[in-house]
Amino acid sequence: MPLVSMRQLLDEAAKGGYGVGAFNVNNLEQVQAIMEAARETNSPAIIQASRGARKYANDRFLYHLMQAATEVYSEIPVALHQDHGNSPETCRSAIELGFTSVMMDGSLMEDAKTPADFAYNVRVTHHVVEMAHGRGVTVEGELGTLGGIEDDVGSGEIHLTDPDQAVEFVERTGVDALAVAIGTSHGAYKFTKEPDRELLAMSIIEEINQRLPTAHLVMHGSSSVPKELVDLLNRYGGEIRPTWGVPVREIQEGIKHGVRKVNVDTDLRLAATGAIRKAFAEDPGEFDPRYYLKPAREAMKKVVKARMEAFGQAGHAGDYEPISLEEMVRRYKEEGHLLTTT
Ligand code: G3H
Ligand code: 13P
Ligand code: ZN
Repeated sequence: MPLVSMRQLLDEAAKGGYGVGAFNVNNLEQVQAIMEAARETNSPAIIQASRGARKYANDRFLYHLMQAATEVYSEIPVALHQDHGNSPETCRSAIELGFTSVMMDGSLMEDAKTPADFAYNVRVTHHVVEMAHGRGVTVEGELGTLGGIEDDVGSGEIHLTDPDQAVEFVERTGVDALAVAIGTSHGAYKFTKEPDRELLAMSIIEEINQRLPTAHLVMHGSSSVPKELVDLLNRYGGEIRPTWGVPVREIQEGIKHGVRKVNVDTDLRLAATGAIRKAFAEDPGEFDPRYYLKPAREAMKKVVKARMEAFGQAGHAGDYEPISLEEMVRRYKEEGHLLTTT
């Protein structure tokens, strides 16, 4: 089947009361690991590419990798999402390329570092909603900022989402999904101790969900940074300092309160690098890249499968027929930007 709108995947997740992992890709092995995990668990899938990923892989390569994924895994509904678009221009070029969903991250200015004010965020996000919905493409916005700096994304400062502003933001922009800041960061170093629901500000999710029960909420920075992956990496020469990620059980709590998209990148990076370090250490005489890329792909698949099962998306790939982007255009026009999920 062709790439499907992310909006449809999230609407279906809301109906079924589950979450959908959104996994970042930069190369062939990551696309294969995620699609294979989706097949083995019969899950719908969201694959996302950052600006850095598009630059690294090259847009045309990324496009054809995703076309291959839809051909080879034709039974899996999969959405292709622009992660952390920094401007309408980035979102426009993603849509031109065939992405079925874009994130306009107006919580930061175009440099993707300086925190933006509310008025700027509303203006720029609304502009992207008008452009994207005219093509049937889904839009995710973000209110509040995460910590951590991942390549080119992030101010490093955490600003938690204000629930009052969240209500106004969703109403004024017409976004399909809202990323909220609850104290997480991108990357491996999120917390210096195991986070509880206070440190994670889960109450923000609960309050927004109460006031906007049909909004699809998104958790960024949701890698769990499992100890066994960090230990393996360090056992074979890595130097990851003691750290904590977002416990899977807290993500599951979020899913009970309207979280429908869960962003995971770091856990796949840790899994791949650990497997590669192990392969290098075990046979220094090997130099065929397949020797270390195969276990890396396998390790990423294992993480993705575990997350797909934990988030509840497993078993749901065949629940529905894909809606075309043309049909999404018609629905956005007919019902206004604010589609309801019930
Ligand atoms: O936004 C964070 C994602 O992990 C993507 O990271 O910009 O290094 O590709 P990246
Ligand atoms: P992690 O760094 O926790 O994997 O977060 C990824 C993310 O939020 C991508 O947008
Ligand atoms: Zn993110």
